[in-house]
Amino acid sequence: MKKVGVAILGLGVVGGGAYSILSSHRDFYMKAHGLDITVEAVLELKRERALSLGIEERKIASSIEEICSNPEVDIVIESMGGVEPARSFSLAVMSAGKSVVTSNKELYCKYGYELEKAAKHNHVGLFYEATCAGGVPVVRALLDNLEGNRITSFIGIINGTTNYILTKMTNEGKSYKEVLAEAQRLGYAEADPETDVEGYDAAYKLSILSSLCFHTKIPFADIHREGITKISSADILCGKRLGYVIKLLAIGKDGEKGIEVRVHPAFIRTAHPLASVGDSYNAVYITGDSVEDVMLYGRGAGALPTGSAIVGDVIYCATHPQHRYSPFENTENASPATKFVTNFESAYYLRLVAEDRAGELSKITAILGKYGISVAQVIQGPAAGGAQAGKADLVVITHVTREENVNKAVSAINRDLQTEVASVIRVVE
Ligand code: HSE
Repeated sequence: MKKVGVAILGLGVVGGGAYSILSSHRDFYMKAHGLDITVEAVLELKRERALSLGIEERKIASSIEEICSNPEVDIVIESMGGVEPARSFSLAVMSAGKSVVTSNKELYCKYGYELEKAAKHNHVGLFYEATCAGGVPVVRALLDNLEGNRITSFIGIINGTTNYILTKMTNEGKSYKEVLAEAQRLGYAEADPETDVEGYDAAYKLSILSSLCFHTKIPFADIHREGITKISSADILCGKRLGYVIKLLAIGKDGEKGIEVRVHPAFIRTAHPLASVGDSYNAVYITGDSVEDVMLYGRGAGALPTGSAIVGDVIYCATHPQHRYSPFENTENASPATKFVTNFESAYYLRLVAEDRAGELSKITAILGKYGISVAQVIQGPAAGGAQAGKADLVVITHVTREENVNKAVSAINRDLQTEVASVIRVVE
């Protein structure tokens, strides 16, 4: 029986989840994999948290040096979150010859290049399945199962908090603020929700996943990012009438003009497989040139789902002595050869509050036409709460057009007409 000693840095939700799985499945892993995996040490500031999980006092380390010098520890799980001290601790344990399994998306996104350099230098493994989409096995799918493909497109719902908020707004007609407050009360959203609601968390994950998809480094700085804070119940209702549902999407595309990477809210048709991904669930919809479309779905957060991803990496590390690293040059910045598309093309949803009188619509479509924007659908009707007196709520869905043209047309409408463009939301067909 091969013995595998593990240390866990940080026993929060994720580290605690990994610990529970490893301790409750010990016999199973012995039978299934011939591995006796034991947690030999933990590093956790709150000793009582470690004790409450049933960890023996002698296994609670008081410094990272104790973990580094512990000969029983082969693999270190880093589930501390944040950049420091997680970064220095990970580098220290790798220098001591131990492999690292991390769930830390911010750290891996920003310093993955540095961690990987250290892993190669010290001939240890570096695993990060748990950084993206919790229990959904997307990292390994891209590294292994789908590696025979050129991936052309990736669309993900990879932030559970925002998906929970948008689902509640859609199903219950409540405002963003109301649902956020409720989610915070229930513990689904952080007290400081910025990382989730402004799209940072999804962008960290998209940086990691799109680098794997497109075999080139896609740094966080090159990802266009918008959050969900400006989404109104009026837009959700108007979208619903037209057969769309709103989601915070993480999109990566590799086309003739280059690579496009963006995180923003978007309408998708209710018939799209991603439309039914509700609450805090995550899903990724990947298109490869041979496999065509693949969708993976599951819990994107939580102790046991994320713990499942961590433990999968621990077992993989213990059973694959030959370490493999990124299938691209893992540098800090993008390669100068990588071309990024920034003037996106998309279909658009525009909600306009216009004077309700003859000829107003034709003035609007004249401006759209001037900028080469072709209209696919128009509806008029009161938005949530009813239309203002003498005003009409118009919703226009455009055909695919350049974002630059939409921005110019919106400025012209706001400047030249008695019409206000209340919202502009991309539509993913
Ligand atoms: N905060 C993340 C989310 C979970 O809401 O999906 C961990 O990545």
